[in-house]
Amino acid sequence: MKTHRIAILPGDGTGPEVVREAVKVLDAAAARFGFELAKTEYDLGGERYKRTGETLPDSVLEELKGHNAILLGAIGHPDVRPGILEKGILLRLRFELDQYINLRPVRLYPGVETPIKDKGPKEIDYVVVRENSGDIYTGMGGIAMKGTADEVATQVMCYSRRQVERCLRWAFEYARKHGKKARGAGEKNTLALVGKTNVLTYVFDLWERAFHEIGDRDYPDVAREYYHVDACCMWMVKSPEWFDVLVTGNMFGDIITDLGAMTQGGMGLAAGGNINPQGVSMFEPIGGSAPKYTGQDVICPIAAIGAAGMMMDTLGEHETAARIESAIEKSLASGKIKSLSAGKMGMSTSQVGDYIAQLAAT
Ligand code: IPM
Ligand code: MN
Repeated sequence: MKTHRIAILPGDGTGPEVVREAVKVLDAAAARFGFELAKTEYDLGGERYKRTGETLPDSVLEELKGHNAILLGAIGHPDVRPGILEKGILLRLRFELDQYINLRPVRLYPGVETPIKDKGPKEIDYVVVRENSGDIYTGMGGIAMKGTADEVATQVMCYSRRQVERCLRWAFEYARKHGKKARGAGEKNTLALVGKTNVLTYVFDLWERAFHEIGDRDYPDVAREYYHVDACCMWMVKSPEWFDVLVTGNMFGDIITDLGAMTQGGMGLAAGGNINPQGVSMFEPIGGSAPKYTGQDVICPIAAIGAAGMMMDTLGEHETAARIESAIEKSLASGKIKSLSAGKMGMSTSQVGDYIAQLAAT
């Protein structure tokens, strides 16, 4: 029997509650589809930091490299100054494991309410490929003359050709394999670059040149579009049906995927994968630690379950991934879950997990 070695990082806030349900669904699917999960849990997060001062010890990082994939709950603690855990754990993992793709589908499931008037599952169905290794996230910059009236702060947006190119190539491949034509949902597979070539005339000049050079040379079958990021936000609300696969830099990708998540029914549904195509990838609900709802068994676990499904796809268990996705879909279409907002589901976090696990197992 095939065994997948999975590192489980429940993390902070509601992370442990939603990861527990994702693991429940994975175990049910493993039994059904005949593979084994060897799970190791790590207590990275705010509590460990408060206790020991450690964020991500090098020894843990090394151990994580020995796994096939990582399932993460959430990072961020109300008692810890913003940035310490996020940079020390989440971003460090993304960088050290070179997870240079952040794949964030924006898909409205049938039965889920969207705040976008007159749009449904047919219209809200696209994917954002967020570059995950560079940009302002690189951490270059500094503050000079701090505390004086003349103080200056910089935070540098930077990209190398290599970073841009590997991300674009992955996005073109993804569009070719999973775009609207490939899925039978349209006439062509389209990759749209989201940038800001009218202001960021260096960084997005690089992106745009690479985009067309690679597209012309190696992906003539994939249609190309370009949107400025501000206009992209407008169309995400007004005409989301225009989109197929979007590719963008790290910062813009961060921002537009929160907007995308709201259009697909909220943070409780939005899953993402931090992918190193040659290495260890990490999957997470993108919603954060929700301290307000911690420990109450009221948070929606579906994003974490969806992330677990994406993880199985990356591990080559495509049937399992499809089953988890359809179990989520059935649970949402059933009308049993009253709302996806925390505390309003009409079911507890663990009951939603039980229900989806049961759907995934049958
Ligand atoms: C996300 C989050 C992170 C990011 C934070 C917590 C560092 O917002 O995964 O989208 O900015 O990437
Ligand atoms: Mn974000």
